[in-house]
Amino acid sequence: METIIEFQKVKKSYGDKAVLKGLDLSIEKGSFVTIIGSSGCGKTTALKMVNGLLKPDSGNIKIKGEDIRQKDQTQLRRNIGYAIQGSVLFPHMTVEQNISYVPNLLNKRDKQKTRAAVDKWMKLVGLEQELKERYPAELSGGQQQRVGIARALAASPEILLMDEPFGAVDEITRGQLQTELKRIHRQTGITVLFVTHDIGEALKLGTKVLVMDQGEIQQYGGPQELLSRPATEFVRQLTRQQRHTCSLPDDRLGDCEYSGARGCAPASGGSADSSGPADRFP
Ligand SMILES: Nc1ncnc2c1ncn2[C@@H]1O[C@H](COP(=O)(O)OP(=O)(O)OP(=O)(O)O)[C@@H](O)[C@H]1O
Ligand SMILES: [Mg+2]
Repeated sequence: METIIEFQKVKKSYGDKAVLKGLDLSIEKGSFVTIIGSSGCGKTTALKMVNGLLKPDSGNIKIKGEDIRQKDQTQLRRNIGYAIQGSVLFPHMTVEQNISYVPNLLNKRDKQKTRAAVDKWMKLVGLEQELKERYPAELSGGQQQRVGIARALAASPEILLMDEPFGAVDEITRGQLQTELKRIHRQTGITVLFVTHDIGEALKLGTKVLVMDQGEIQQYGGPQELLSRPATEFVRQLTRQQRHTCSLPDDRLGDCEYSGARGCAPASGGSADSSGPADRFP
């Protein structure tokens, strides 16, 4: 498998507080990496380094083998979609204008091509076409987030960075957005880095899950690996509820719905906690 993003001994401090303490990480092209860890552990910092919004104090970040410091920064960012929590839409532009912002820059002459791209991405993220002429203030929070994701995707990036993108939406909308994002990932082969605070979401969406604590990697592996073979006590505690909710023996935790596979078959006599996080994913 081809490596698309590489962190090599990346360090970052603010004052005397070390946020990243020598991050080493290789991300394969086409993977969906979910990133989870305690608040302040450096997730946003690591994400912003990928598109050059923050620079490491030392160490390298490479994209397709090339140090990002060598790249043209505008070109770099154009190839990387960035969707963050809360609305970052242009308030004075309609939904259509927001989504077509980058495609318009890319193919100035071909308006038809841009219109087709807007239609395609609105459909893929589950936005009604009739919302095109609305302004962000006339949309619900969930709709605004979908526009933000459509706008990031419409630029046809190879890499999509998402920082808690579903944090502010209700559980039903969140479930729909998760399903849609998973489908988009499958259909486009895009590489996604997705920060979340919800371990259920991290295990459900990620082909790989990165668990961080205090600026260091606790584990980087497939969801079933985290469930059945937690590398540290931190990971064991983090996944405890999912292991419990699935009521499966260790060697079958890969079948758990949280492993990214569909359907959680409770073991006979298993008592899934009805108030547990499984409720979030009907
Ligand atoms: N510009 C800054 N100046 C000083 N300290 C900063 C700055 N930006 C971030 N930090 C600190 O660096 C640490 C890591 O921040 P970061 O935003 O990466 O955390 P995070 O893992 O994304 O947290 P959260 O889950 O709360 O979003 C935090 O302790 C934060 O207070
Ligand atoms: Mg953050």
